[in-house]
Amino acid sequence: MAITPHGGQLINKELTGSEREETLKHAKDLPALTVSDWTLSDLELIGNGGFSPLTGFLKEADYHNVIHQNRLADGTLWTIPITLSVDQADADRFPTGESISLYGSDGHPYAILLVEEKYTYDKTEEALRIYGTNDIEHAGVAKLYEQGDIYLGGPILLLNRPDHSQFSDYYKDPAETRALFDELGWNTIVGFQTRNPVHRAHEYIQKSALEVVDGLLLNPLVGETKSDDVSAEIRMESYEVILNNYYPHNRTRLVIYPAAMRYGGPKEAVLHAIVRKNYGCTHFIVGRDHAGVGDYYGTYEAQDYALQFESELGIQIFAFEHAFYCTVCENMASAKTCPHDASNHVHLSGTKVREMLRNGEKPPKEFTRPEVAEVLIKGLQGTNPINS
Ligand code: ADX
Repeated sequence: MAITPHGGQLINKELTGSEREETLKHAKDLPALTVSDWTLSDLELIGNGGFSPLTGFLKEADYHNVIHQNRLADGTLWTIPITLSVDQADADRFPTGESISLYGSDGHPYAILLVEEKYTYDKTEEALRIYGTNDIEHAGVAKLYEQGDIYLGGPILLLNRPDHSQFSDYYKDPAETRALFDELGWNTIVGFQTRNPVHRAHEYIQKSALEVVDGLLLNPLVGETKSDDVSAEIRMESYEVILNNYYPHNRTRLVIYPAAMRYGGPKEAVLHAIVRKNYGCTHFIVGRDHAGVGDYYGTYEAQDYALQFESELGIQIFAFEHAFYCTVCENMASAKTCPHDASNHVHLSGTKVREMLRNGEKPPKEFTRPEVAEVLIKGLQGTNPINS
């Protein structure tokens, strides 16, 4: 029996066939709004059921409940508001109760939104409640303060998906991953979120999980990330290389997660777990500083937070301690399994690793598989640390 999607059923808000053709014709006559790539990724995940049970952008009652209670208005657990912001001038163009067309910056129509509500919100309150800080140095908070002052709430219909042709081999909807797991005969599946290349620590916790479940869904986030994270193109190549060289093919699948990264630590860890449940995973890994950035969250804050909601989530949280290579043990370990002090542990910061790679230097093989390092060096060498 496959795991029940969040809220009870998998949502599908995507139009196909003649219905889509008809709506596309009609879309041209509706008021138009050009939305960001971030919003396109939200539309896609609402449309394909990744964000089930959402059927559109949050309306005011849901929004307030999410901010204050971590729940939609009907009580369903939901920790990150999925919203569409506009400025006052745009809000004034759209009467409530009417549909508008949402276009990408490429000029393509992506969705129809029925504007059921327009409402103002308090950015500082959202920042503090969701991110635990209103410091604009925080990547998620910075995004929030940049956006328009009015939210439009209402259901959407997806007409087109953002282009993922470069990763088409790895694109699957939640309904498709569920069918895939069924075909593979996997009953227990661990989902793994990442916005980084797979280093030895990631590999270790994935494989520790794989010791006790049937399959691993490596589900890297490929939507918008902050400018100094390694690009999705380079990461995808690095995932192919590590999977081909070090993972059993019959127990591992790579599928992209097309969302934007919010860097919301604890609250985003819960969102990540919900989405992986929708994709059909029965287990989800939350390791050290999951979805964290800078020093905004404690090392285990996200996993402690996600664990609180475990029984309600229905997906089992695999909480892992900080993993490292120990030169005395001569293997990967954590404080739970290694008695040696930190001076024996190979540790490099993300910044340090990127600096080495950009200079064409391989990190130690205890930290990064050499095959992965080669791909990363090829991709990153000479890139500007600010703009890469
Ligand atoms: S994230 O922002 O997508 O969470 P990252 O790609 O670094 O960042 O992490 C992916 C997953 O691996 C997260 O669950 C994170 O907590 C976990 N993780 C990363 N590094 C380690 C480590 N050294 N030890 C234990 N868990 C880790």
